[in-house]
Order: sequence, then structure tokens, then C-alpha cells
Amino acid sequence: MTPVDESPDLAVAAFLARPVDHLANIPWPFPDDLTAFRYSVNVDPARVPRPTLAGEWGRHLVDLGGAEYPRLMAERRRILDADPGRVQLRPGMELACWDLLLYYLRDLAATYPALMHLAEIGDRFRWRNFVLGTNQEFILGDAATLPCGPLEFLAREVPDDLLLVVERDGRLYFDAGAVTFAAAWSVSFDVGMDMYEIHGPVPRLTGEGITARAEQFLKRLPADQVYRRVNWTLSASDSRKYDVSLEELPAWGRDIPAMIRAGGWERVQLRIELEHFVRLPMTGAVTFNIRTFMASLAELRAVPAWCRQLAAVIEELPEDIAAYKGFADYRDSVVDFLRSPLPANGKTER
Ligand code: HEM
Repeated sequence: MTPVDESPDLAVAAFLARPVDHLANIPWPFPDDLTAFRYSVNVDPARVPRPTLAGEWGRHLVDLGGAEYPRLMAERRRILDADPGRVQLRPGMELACWDLLLYYLRDLAATYPALMHLAEIGDRFRWRNFVLGTNQEFILGDAATLPCGPLEFLAREVPDDLLLVVERDGRLYFDAGAVTFAAAWSVSFDVGMDMYEIHGPVPRLTGEGITARAEQFLKRLPADQVYRRVNWTLSASDSRKYDVSLEELPAWGRDIPAMIRAGGWERVQLRIELEHFVRLPMTGAVTFNIRTFMASLAELRAVPAWCRQLAAVIEELPEDIAAYKGFADYRDSVVDFLRSPLPANGKTER
């Protein structure tokens, strides 16, 4: 066993003391010169740091999010406690969930050695997360040794939504998930669907061959190389609401008409998903894990080049894609806001 750091408290205090900056780690979704966005199979090798105008993203598989991490995890745990239906498993997925748990705990311990630790002897493990206070012994494959299933246990430790895909009869099926921050979809509705059924509502995707290419890519995903993809949308839900799933539609569905009536475009959130594809070593199941980042349009004003680019992309976006993404009704106002002059006390440019 590797000895645990004698004084993790200091490391945790230093980790939590860093000021929260929602732009610093945001995976800016557009290449520098892009002004017209269309769907594509935009996948790249993961764990490669990408500098941006505001900071950097993508160095690690899991981005804890600095001082925001405990708040994010409290929100995740509150939702899981209130709605057990956010964790869904089709029969036969238990081993893949253990595979996922072990892969991620090992990765976290290697990436954040001052904050997290995994001790291993044979099939016995002890997981310690000094930020959240988790201290859990378990035996791999023995669900009775964890307080909940391995998929949910991991979901309570990492900010990512966790989705597992397996191949059957040549098709990829979404057969397990722990999802609390879905952008207008529902894990209990989608679980068990194949790639074509899931992506049926997305305009152009299957018709233009993108679903087929995405499926081919995932079927051929090698075991030794993790890939990632970035996706984006706008969210008019107020105050950084992560849970805009269909389950919560009655709660956030009123936010959009209310915002259209009242204005307040600076509170609209740019919502970016960083998705990681890992082929798990024991079972060959593939992950589609989604880490959601958000920054308000008010925050984006600190980077005028981003405001200009986002305005151009939203203005040019075809109506069907804007409607699917849910902002067709207010996109002109957002473009106007992004192009309006900074108020006199506005922040300095980056
Ligand atoms: C390279 C692989 C993939 C690509 C290129 C891709 C592409 C897309 C795109 C373009 C959208 C629309 C998003 C938007 O406009 O905001 C979407 C939605 C979605 N994707 Fe994928 N996807 C991939 C893999 C997967 C996998 C493996 C899963 C499931 C495990 C998945 C689940 C979903 C879900 C649940 C939605 C929302 C659908 C809805 O609105 O009902 N995707 N995907």
C-alpha cells in the first residue's frame, strides 16, 4: 500500500482557497477562426491541456472545479437522494460499473495525490477523498461493501455525469447511467436506447451520417487512448442551475419565458459539456461521461473576443439547430447583448 499523506488538511485548504473563476477552466468550444457552427464528430485525444484566452482546460480526465467542487457534489448528492431514478442500470451492467469505478478512482488518486488516495491489496480497496471526507473500504465486485452501487458511489465522488455504452449485435446501447445534470433529456427515458434512437431528436445528425460515424468511432475506440468531445448550448435557467433535466422541467421550464419577458440577458448561461470516451479495461464497455461547465454572459464580457465569436455563431446558426438547443426564441436578444458596449464599470479585457 502507498502511505497516505500525513497532512491532507493543508492540501485541501489550499485547494479550496483558490478563487472561483468560471472562465478559467471552461472548455471554449470553438476554434479561433470559426464563425459558423455545425454538428460533426468532433473528437480529440484527451488529457491534453488546451490553453484558452482565459486559462486552460482538459489537462485531466476529471476536472474537480477547484473551490466549486464541494458545492457541485452537494448538489449532485441532493439530487441522487431525492430521485433514485437518476441512476439506471440495465441487467448485466454490474461488472462494467465496477470497471468504471476502479478506473476512475485510480485516475483520481494519480491525478490528485494530495487530495485523494486509493489503497489496494488484491481485490480489497480503501478510497479516501479528503475534500469530501469519504473514507470507504470495499471489495471489488461485492456490492454489500459499498453504501450504494458502484456507479452511484462514483457519481457521488466526481462532478461528471456517468454514462456507459455497450455493443450488442453490432449496435451501441446506452445501458447504464448516473445523470443529475442532463441538458433537457432524461436518463430514465433514454437508458436502453441505441445510438440512433437517442440521437433521433437531434436535427440533421442521423440524416447527415454523423450518428453512423460517431458509432463507428466508438466501436473502434482503442483501450489505451482516451478521447474527448466538446458540446455547447445556452441555458436561460437562472443562477447556474446544473439540473435542467426533463425530470426537472416543471421547475426550470418557466425560467425561459420569464427571462424573455423581463430581459436580464447577462444571466443567461453558456453551458459547455466536456465528454470523455474511455474503453474500460476489464469489460470493454465505453464511457460517455459528461462534465458540465457554465459561465454567464456577464462573465463572458471579460473576454471580448469570445463575445464576438459567440455572437457570430449564434446569429449564423440554422433555425432547426437553434430550436433544438432551445434558444431560438431569444437568440437575437443574446446576440444584441453580446455586441452591446461594456458598462462604464465593466471588467478589464483578457
Ligand atoms: C462521438 C460520439 C457522439 C457524438 C458526435 C454525439 C453528438 C451529439 C449531438 C450533436 C447532440 C446534440 C447536442 C446539442 O445540440 O446540444 C447529441 C445529443 C445527445 N447525445 Fe450524443 N453524441 C455522441 C455520443 C453519444 C453517446 C455515446 C451517448 C449516450 C450514451 C449520447 C447521448 C446523447 C444524448 C442523451 C443527447 C440528448 C438527446 C436529446 O435531446 O434527447 N451521445 N449528441
